[in-house]
Amino acid sequence: MCANNLDELFEDGLKHVYYAEQQLVDATEELAESTTDDELAEAFAEHHEETKEQVERLESVFEEIDATPEAEPDHAVDGLIENHEDFVNQDPDDHVLDRFNIAAGQKSEHYEIAAYGNLIPLADQLGIDVADTLEATLREEQDALDELSAFGEEFDYGQIDE
Ligand SMILES: [Fe+2]
Repeated sequence: MCANNLDELFEDGLKHVYYAEQQLVDATEELAESTTDDELAEAFAEHHEETKEQVERLESVFEEIDATPEAEPDHAVDGLIENHEDFVNQDPDDHVLDRFNIAAGQKSEHYEIAAYGNLIPLADQLGIDVADTLEATLREEQDALDELSAFGEEFDYGQIDE
């Protein structure tokens, strides 16, 4: 679809982030399962549950604009997931994979924050009353990013065998 006006641009952005969240439901589960550190795995599992709710929130936004929820493939999120699969396929050391998973999670949170950070002011300008819904998700993404960043900063590199 080629967006010719800002309403269409908003709907297009919504379709992309709807696709991204759907993919991330599976990806966060994969991150939780492939992580050895219990606390970190728990953080991914929690974000997996949040992501399922975020998908539902987006469906309510589609409803608000009288549109049917539709996913538009998002190449950026596909690329992030492919990068992760490629890395896992190299059969890395468990702790190295944990550290990679932190970065993979951070990258996807940054991407989602950028997506929601653009949709919120666009909706406001268009007079679409969905700011509270989208801001709830944006806060969760920001919290998830902060949590992952703390895991990255406190990571115990002594566990990695050279
Ligand atoms: Fe999300």
